[in-house]
Amino acid sequence: MQSVNSLQLTFENRVAVVTGAAHGIGRAICRELAIRGAQVAAVDILEDALDESGKEVEEAIAAHGSAGAIRLYPCDAADSAAVKSLAESVVRDFGKADILVNVAGGVAGQVHQPIEAVSDDDWRKVIDINLNTTFYMIRAFAPYMKEAAYGRIVNISSGAGRSSSLTGIQAYTSAKAGQIGLTRQMARELGRFGITVNNVAPGFVLSNPSTERQWQAMSKEQQDGLIESISSRRLGTPEDIAHPVLFFASDFSRYVNGQIISADGGLQLF
Ligand SMILES: NC(=O)c1ccc[n+]([C@@H]2O[C@H](COP(=O)([O-])OP(=O)(O)OC[C@H]3O[C@@H](n4cnc5c(N)ncnc54)[C@H](O)[C@@H]3O)[C@@H](O)[C@H]2O)c1
Repeated sequence: MQSVNSLQLTFENRVAVVTGAAHGIGRAICRELAIRGAQVAAVDILEDALDESGKEVEEAIAAHGSAGAIRLYPCDAADSAAVKSLAESVVRDFGKADILVNVAGGVAGQVHQPIEAVSDDDWRKVIDINLNTTFYMIRAFAPYMKEAAYGRIVNISSGAGRSSSLTGIQAYTSAKAGQIGLTRQMARELGRFGITVNNVAPGFVLSNPSTERQWQAMSKEQQDGLIESISSRRLGTPEDIAHPVLFFASDFSRYVNGQIISADGGLQLF
């Protein structure tokens, strides 16, 4: 283990649980952790895409000669009982869980509708996958982290949760804002146990079929307008989101707790 002043500089011997591991951002987070030595428990509801993710990460591990590994856990993270047994399985398989990255979320295939047209089911589905998954995962894994007196929890929200959504999906904005609130509250509750809880809010990233469709549906003028509004003058990549996650998941952020980083190229400036 490399260390300077007792800070660990790699993720060797760290166990990282990542939800939403099948699509672009979660997949990149698994890869970036694993090539730096982490043992990754990759969780997603989409089994085939999770398999692909596992293969891609294994290839990256081999290419980097890393000591990391990835193991796949197909699971509905919006199912409270399934998440409880997931936590038991992960800790049985790896002996502990040092890092938890809550990436599961998205818009569930929905597009903007006027508020009066939003059904109860539309609303609940988006709250379920973005906010309830985060609650269930933290509730299930926190006891193991408390016992170990060590933990790094990173939640992935969205610029929508800090302001409003480009897509105009009311439940998405609400769920992500709620998840940011949960981040702060959990930092307050768990900090005394050596656990940090932080949040990365991505901007627009072409990382899943839905954002690809959204981008293609824009006119050239709309695409140019979006790029113009981003200080760095480009869209984000999944790695652009994974890198601040690495910071929060590492020992470099040990005195940073309850914070939100916007990884959006300077789109929203606070
Ligand atoms: N792509 C973007 O532009 C963007 C922008 C802001 C925020 N985000 C957020 O980043 C995260 C990752 O986004 P992405 O673009 O990689 O993919 P995505 O939005 O398609 O969804 C993330 C992943 O979560 C999984 N998931 C959904 N419900 C689940 C459940 N109940 N149990 C387990 N897994 C479940 C999906 O299968 C998918 O792999 C999401 O939370 C998304 O809201 C994305």
